[in-house]
Amino acid sequence: MTEKQLIELARTARERSVSPYSRFLVGAAVQSGDGLVFTGCNIESSSYGLTVCAERVAVWKALSEGHTDFKRIAIVADTKPLTPPCGACRQILWDFCPDAMIILANLDGEKKSFEMRQLYAHAFDERFLLEPHRK
Ligand code: THU
Repeated sequence: MTEKQLIELARTARERSVSPYSRFLVGAAVQSGDGLVFTGCNIESSSYGLTVCAERVAVWKALSEGHTDFKRIAIVADTKPLTPPCGACRQILWDFCPDAMIILANLDGEKKSFEMRQLYAHAFDERFLLEPHRK
């Protein structure tokens, strides 16, 4: 699976976006350690706060099917500059794929890659729930 193919899968997932309220379409494709790819799109609720981002849909699908150890996630929206993951998704991506490359892309073929640690500095994670951090 090339980076270009992963982006293409995210782009196709974006077309399935259920976003009648924002009309902001997002697609994501996450590649697990065993090489499988799980896609997601944003899904909005009439109770706006229940909306789920494309990234989390993709990660939930992979985890719920027993796939972990994510290497890369491509996120596609039609913006310039490129759309980065929201704060809630950064937490989830940090929890489940801290070592993954985050590939942002748009419909013009522009793309840029980031490491999670670049996107989410001073992150909260499971370490703080355990000794010796916990006092
Ligand atoms: N959205 C995503 O799917 N991913 C992001 O990283 C940013 C925001 C969605 C949520 C909502 O459906 C719409 O974009 C506008 O916020």
